[in-house]
Amino acid sequence: MQFDKPATTNPIDRLKVVGQPVHRIDGQLKATGRAKYAYEWHDPNVPYVYGYPVGAAIAKGHIVSMDVSAAKEAPGVLAVVTALDVGERKKGKFNTAKLFGGSEIQHYHQAVAVVVAETFEQARAAAALVRVEYAEEIGAFDLKDAMKTAIKPKDVGGAPPDTAVGDFDGAFKAAPVSFDATYTTPDQSHSMMEPHASIAVWDGEALTIWTSAQMIDWWRSDLATTLDVEKEKIHLMSPFIGGGFGGKLFLRADAVLAAFGAKAARRPVKVALPRPFMVNNTTHRPATIQRVRIAAEHTGKITAIGHESWSGDLPGGQLETAAMQTRLLYAGENRMTAMRLATLDLAEGNAMRAPGEAPGMMALEIAMDEMAEKLDIDPVEFRIINDTQVDPEKPERPFSHRDLVSCLRLGAERFGWSDRGRPASRREGNWLIGLGVAAAFRNNLLVPSAARVRLDHEGVITVETDMTDIGTGSYTIIAQTAAEMMGVPIEKVVVRLGDSRFPVSAGSGGQFGANCSTTGVYAACVKLREAIAQKLGFNSEDATFENGEVRSGNRSVPLAEAAGSEGLAGEDTVEWAKLADSHQQSTFGAHFVEVGVDIATGESRIRRMLAVCAAGRILNPITARSQVVGAMTMGVGSALSEELAVDVGRGFFVNHDLAGYEVPVHADIPHQEVIFMDETDPYSSPMKAKGIAELGLCGVSAAIANAIYNATGVRVREYPITLDKLI
Ligand code: MOS
Repeated sequence: MQFDKPATTNPIDRLKVVGQPVHRIDGQLKATGRAKYAYEWHDPNVPYVYGYPVGAAIAKGHIVSMDVSAAKEAPGVLAVVTALDVGERKKGKFNTAKLFGGSEIQHYHQAVAVVVAETFEQARAAAALVRVEYAEEIGAFDLKDAMKTAIKPKDVGGAPPDTAVGDFDGAFKAAPVSFDATYTTPDQSHSMMEPHASIAVWDGEALTIWTSAQMIDWWRSDLATTLDVEKEKIHLMSPFIGGGFGGKLFLRADAVLAAFGAKAARRPVKVALPRPFMVNNTTHRPATIQRVRIAAEHTGKITAIGHESWSGDLPGGQLETAAMQTRLLYAGENRMTAMRLATLDLAEGNAMRAPGEAPGMMALEIAMDEMAEKLDIDPVEFRIINDTQVDPEKPERPFSHRDLVSCLRLGAERFGWSDRGRPASRREGNWLIGLGVAAAFRNNLLVPSAARVRLDHEGVITVETDMTDIGTGSYTIIAQTAAEMMGVPIEKVVVRLGDSRFPVSAGSGGQFGANCSTTGVYAACVKLREAIAQKLGFNSEDATFENGEVRSGNRSVPLAEAAGSEGLAGEDTVEWAKLADSHQQSTFGAHFVEVGVDIATGESRIRRMLAVCAAGRILNPITARSQVVGAMTMGVGSALSEELAVDVGRGFFVNHDLAGYEVPVHADIPHQEVIFMDETDPYSSPMKAKGIAELGLCGVSAAIANAIYNATGVRVREYPITLDKLI
């Protein structure tokens, strides 16, 4: 299905199933422990054995030699495969660092061997016996030092690293009120609950792999490249995923080690990355240093806005696109953005939930608060004054739909924003109380997505697509889409996901999964409706699908009967053409937070949070709300506790487990509320929905920082805002 004009009225608009608060169709499986995650696939007739990784003990250099004799003789050991045995391999398209093979060490805990044994404990014990001699080289591990040598990359994910409109410097100097500050955000870890884990089973040249992957097709392609086998020979499955947050977008070492281990041991092998490996072996969100400059007239109208950002990555890597939102969020005639990439020899930096905007908004939205104070304008009003309905860099390009102003106004009213006082003016016992606000912004990306839909002789609709469910609710919204399109109750829909035998979907990433994958299902259902109508001799234009029947004129036929004994199928893929260029597609919101800061210890506690989101049609208010609540919780971690501590001498993240890397839990946040604006975006897809999962994170941390300032009068520009920075 080509999609090059705004969506018109279609069966989805009936909203009998789509848009309804349907509980997760996989909820019972999950709540009763029957949903099988990657490591849990277990056939009692299969003699699984266990692989345990060995990680590099240096951050940069080469392996001189490896001694695996003791490991090989240890009890239960079946095989030891080293990086030297495997040799240099081609790298997957999406990997910056190699996952396994060759003597070069690019970062700490890069895999250098996998030990396979009869039991997990035997494999782990033997892995400790592997001896490696290294030639160590000096690396760069400190962003502050490395930023001096940062380069300007040719492009950043298809966009230019720099943009300039008007005369930023001139306007900044000439303005009556101006503001210039630098903010830092630390390296962060995805820290998903389920570790990266894979089971590999070879049958001759064919490989079956169960893993935990957000993007089935990317993983399969990159695994084929890395192993040097034909892509068609790999069957990859990932039906349930215990969290990803971007950390499972790209092929990871567990799958590669399981495949090599299984080949060497001639047995099916299970490999789970131990928790400490997840931090230094995989990817993380890179730290940033960001300078924001804003100038305005006394009325609050921004005349110049500039945002520069520095981040680091391994050679050949990419930068954190932290200035992106500043190109789009606020009006202002004179503007500049610039992003620079330093070389750092830490583990690969890569996408983590809302890459770019999440850390970018952490800086920009404190700067907006600081500027509002300087102007003596309410921060909600300051943002409203500078709203724009067109791309401020390309005024001929309107937003497809933008309702930031309503989010701010409604949020202010519901949250009781008018109670906010001057900084450090409200005290309850030992607590200083403050309110903070920030805008939310995240782009809406459109990615092709395919699906296959079948109708059988019992009237059951089966949807197959390689879309994944990383805890987001994909199973449920896809079932709702098919039920709506085919006019059947949701109980009549079976959804099968996360399997490389199914049509290639958008996958789970960049908050595009929900809108794009359901649109692929919509397109496949259109095909199935046509097939049914054609078989019955109905005109597909006026055939209606309702109550398990297809009706045309005065004839109606139950779907089960229409299917016949053979059944009928429809398959299609959705491609976005001109729409993506003609309109800027973004999602908007407002975050409000109330904090208490202990006057003696400086400890910050969240008291209540509100998010108002404008993100197109909400496909399911229950699953969408869960996404936003989860994102808000992540934003609390980002504001108050999450920080990978870099050992800048040895070059690794020190706090590589959940004891040292602190993430908030529900008990840390007594009250969270989410309001969705009632809107549809016909430019986003026939579903008229947009992404929501990352929007919920963008801006939260700044709203918290602003609330802490309002509570204490202390402005912290270095995240996380730990108590030592307040006293
Ligand atoms: Mo998201 S960081 O694209 O999984």
